[in-house]
Amino acid sequence: MGSARINLSRAVMFAMLAAGLALWSTPAGADDAAATYKAKCAMCHGADGKGDTPVGKKMGIRDLTSADVQKMSDEELITITTKGKNKMPGYENKLSAAQIKDVVAYIRQLAKGK
Ligand code: HEC
Repeated sequence: MGSARINLSRAVMFAMLAAGLALWSTPAGADDAAATYKAKCAMCHGADGKGDTPVGKKMGIRDLTSADVQKMSDEELITITTKGKNKMPGYENKLSAAQIKDVVAYIRQLAKGK
């Protein structure tokens, strides 16, 4: 009885450890556009892209999922993300071209989820 209980708690601990490791290693994935977005963009643009953040409101950020932003071409969105625009910082030196392309695709996904 006693030892069975110990084995169970060991199994639970191991499962928690494995889950913790999985969580911890996620942001390292270079092609994980969602992780890139959350790490680099969400503090201003909001997790859902609507810019409903203290910084977003202060800077007057437009909703990335709005028709106004979505009607821009991928090239335009990629250029803005790469070079920046007014208060929007450029990510030329922080993200690879592939990461920027992926993160723009992710913004399109956010718009579809609305
Ligand atoms: C420091 C806050 C901040 C961060 C971080 C930030 N942005 Fe922005 N972003 C802005 C602001 C402010 C604008 C509006 C610029 C303007 O039109 O004057 C903007 C505009 C944009 C636009 C154009 C939308 C429009 O209204 O014309 C895109 C696309 C965009 N950001 C993508 C991103 C992506 C992708 C990231 C992460 C890699 C990111 N932003 C990170 C502040 C930020």
